[in-house]
Amino acid sequence: MLDRILYRLATGDWGRFRFLPGPGPENGLQTALGIYVHIPFCRRLCSFCPYTRVLYTPDAAERYREALSREAASLAIRPGLAVSSVYFGGGTPATVPAAVSRLLQLLRPCLTESPALAIELHPRDATTEGLEWLLEQGINMVSLGVESLQERALHWLGRDYGPAEALAATEAALAAGLATVNIDLITGLPGQTAEQAGRDMDRLLSLGVDQVSAYPFMEFPFTNAVSHYSLLRQWHTLNALADTAAARAYERTSVWTWTHPGKVPYTSITRQRYIGLGVGAASCLDGCFRVNTFDLAAYCDAVLSGRSPAALHTRLTAAEAALYRLFWACYEGRIDPADPAWASLPYFHRRLVAARRLGLVTPDGGGVTFTRRGFFLYHLLERYYTSRYIAGLWQAGRRAAFPGELEL
Ligand SMILES: C[S@@+](CC[C@H](N)C(=O)[O-])C[C@H]1O[C@@H](n2cnc3c(N)ncnc32)[C@H](O)[C@@H]1O
Ligand code: SF4
Repeated sequence: MLDRILYRLATGDWGRFRFLPGPGPENGLQTALGIYVHIPFCRRLCSFCPYTRVLYTPDAAERYREALSREAASLAIRPGLAVSSVYFGGGTPATVPAAVSRLLQLLRPCLTESPALAIELHPRDATTEGLEWLLEQGINMVSLGVESLQERALHWLGRDYGPAEALAATEAALAAGLATVNIDLITGLPGQTAEQAGRDMDRLLSLGVDQVSAYPFMEFPFTNAVSHYSLLRQWHTLNALADTAAARAYERTSVWTWTHPGKVPYTSITRQRYIGLGVGAASCLDGCFRVNTFDLAAYCDAVLSGRSPAALHTRLTAAEAALYRLFWACYEGRIDPADPAWASLPYFHRRLVAARRLGLVTPDGGGVTFTRRGFFLYHLLERYYTSRYIAGLWQAGRRAAFPGELEL
């Protein structure tokens, strides 16, 4: 019921998000967009992880490389395609370097000037040779999945390294000469206090990392790890992270990220226009959101036999498109009231005034920025959105490779 009330409040309508089978329309390829490439292979599977991932085998990886190259090649020949960023996520993209280099080779003619080329790395892949190879490919941003600097927490997560190795990987990434090094942490792990989360972050900031992303632990119906992250602990943890970052003069660039001043924030998720390539990858272009099948074999079969791998799409109404834009503006904690997109949202400006009175946002130049209280409210909303909508979509995608109509 809460979802229906929130939808009504935000859009003025009693609708739901309706997904239909297939790719849907594809407009707006000629305006600069970002590309997300999903590589699902990992050397071992972490029980807490909700992403589309499978154990690495050389045969499956080779077939995937072929399918992914075919999907990318058919995109790269579109006239006027302008790509401002390419982000390799996973899974663990470094398990299939041949796919990374082939994709970059295919997309290179479509890249705009100074594109952001980014990759997610498992700490075990942050070796001197591995990092040099990334630089040779032109990749200038990395995100390391450190997760925690506490032995006990890493053990609970089932990670195959300890705090010393995580710090060594961070130092190797910092020494490599990349433009941006982001470190992922997870908060709310069993037994982890707010102060400990702050201390982990402080250690990383003291090394000079460009950014720390501290995600709250998320539970999904299809993962089997439960962390019991109480509301009070969430509040104290976010405050401990914000205090630590402020003491080192890092800027809050989203609800869960803090970035060194002058550095370009590293993000895979706040782009308004992007195309996803690979199994389970999502795309969002001018009024249409779509997602590829989550089934690896079905993805490869579809692409290699010349069919679309898209499983579901939804056409966004003007209010839904504005809501999507607003959701990610709130994620970054900055809203420009003059943005014409808000015209489709009911009572938007009155609600902004109310948010100011409640101390959720504060004026900043021509716009507003979120206060700690505002970020906390958004943090709760984001967690709800993930468990209600992202988990719902991913679960439907796990039940059938090409599900029929879906209402969320
Ligand atoms: C694809 S994974 C990271 C890349 C690499 N495979 C690794 O494990 O280091 C991306 C990030 O998602 C976050 N993540 C994964 N599962 C999560 C969960 N259940 N709750 C919160 N964050 C999660 C972690 O911070 C992780 O680093
Ligand atoms: S957290 Fe990383 S290594 Fe672990 S299963 Fe997920 S993608 Fe793979």
